[in-house]
Amino acid sequence: MSIRDVLVTGGAGYIGSHLVDALVARDYRVTVLDNLDPQVHRSGTWPSYANAKARYVKGDVRDRAVFEPLVLASQAVVHFGAAVSIGQSMYQIDRYVDVNTRGTALLLDILVNTKHTVEKVLVASSIGVYGEGAYRCATHGIVAPAIRPEQQLAARDWEQHCPQCGTHVKPVPTPEDKALYRDNIYSMTKYHQEEMVLLIGKTYGIPSVAPRFFNVYGPRQSLSNPYAGVAAIWLSRLLNGRQPIVFEDGGQLRDFVSIHDAVDCLVLMLENPGADYLPVNVGSGQTITILEIAALLGRLLGSSIEPQITQTGRKFDIRHNTADIACARRTLGFAPKVTLDQGFTELIAWAQTTPDVAVDFFDRALQELQDKGLLVKS
Ligand SMILES: NC(=O)c1ccc[n+]([C@@H]2O[C@H](COP(=O)([O-])OP(=O)(O)OC[C@H]3O[C@@H](n4cnc5c(N)ncnc54)[C@H](O)[C@@H]3O)[C@@H](O)[C@H]2O)c1
Ligand SMILES: [Zn+2]
Repeated sequence: MSIRDVLVTGGAGYIGSHLVDALVARDYRVTVLDNLDPQVHRSGTWPSYANAKARYVKGDVRDRAVFEPLVLASQAVVHFGAAVSIGQSMYQIDRYVDVNTRGTALLLDILVNTKHTVEKVLVASSIGVYGEGAYRCATHGIVAPAIRPEQQLAARDWEQHCPQCGTHVKPVPTPEDKALYRDNIYSMTKYHQEEMVLLIGKTYGIPSVAPRFFNVYGPRQSLSNPYAGVAAIWLSRLLNGRQPIVFEDGGQLRDFVSIHDAVDCLVLMLENPGADYLPVNVGSGQTITILEIAALLGRLLGSSIEPQITQTGRKFDIRHNTADIACARRTLGFAPKVTLDQGFTELIAWAQTTPDVAVDFFDRALQELQDKGLLVKS
């Protein structure tokens, strides 16, 4: 049998909705299961971009009564419904573990204990499973340092040190086989989701893939969710006449991948066996500092507002992590196409025209981190 019906959990969200459009355009029958989490969907209704050709079911991935029949009617399940914020996960522990880990456990429990027709499962994993990225020490070669201690952040010693000799180390692209560290609850849940899905997939012969998303940017990322992606948060700040807040010195290296390239990669995972049973980095393969991202947004917006560089750290932040995308290239033939200029121009054009007005709640989110002692004084 081949895949015809695809269930996308979290399909009203940012990445899921773009995938829904791509799948509908490829003539799949798509069903979305999404609980319209109020933090993401402030209106409480299906978003304006919902696809008229998809079926939308409002429900929770922790609710077997709604989840099970949808799984049983599908040949592929794309599991993206999740609580999505590193900082918030450090004080909403029960909610993050419950939605992310238990929601995935329920999906697997359904697959193992019912007569289903599912031939492919994709589960959203994250750059977060690595903790720090990979580094090279001049003496010891490739090393994998742990998260920086609070005293190091307090001393504004931003760069990583070699775990063996203590000298400063240089970042290199992170391959999938780098040692994994979880530095926050959200990333632990992403790791559990990925590990559980790949284990059950292998054990029961259900082809499964865990895309490890790096910084996916583009239209539809909520501009009013102060806990989500940094590009959307800063864009929302600028649109509201406020300075983007840049932690540390802004020299953190990341990989920003366009939503369109990410969706291309997901379609390849769904339609090809090449990456079955693997975790796969989904990035652009290009690196950029976050300060350069802030500057790019300002330049494309024609804004004269400068970012505010705090020279302070957050306890859970990593210094550098960029994607080695050799695995996606080799196993799937993935080839990212969108340049940063093209992608950010599109993001800004969307932000200026979307009916979902950008409301900047960042100060509130920052205050929560402050209240919980997650900001490091220096
Ligand atoms: N955006 C990124 O750069 C990025 C990076 C790494 C990983 N991810 C992962 O990709 C997936 C999609 O992320 P996104 O950026 O589109 O986030 P998003 O918040 O826009 O979308 C998530 C969707 O899940 C829904 N949801 C939340 N809890 C639910 C529940 N209990 N039951 C049903 N639906 C629920 C929300 O309403 C939302 O529509 C997530 O699993 C996230 O962890 C995203
Ligand atoms: Zn060393």
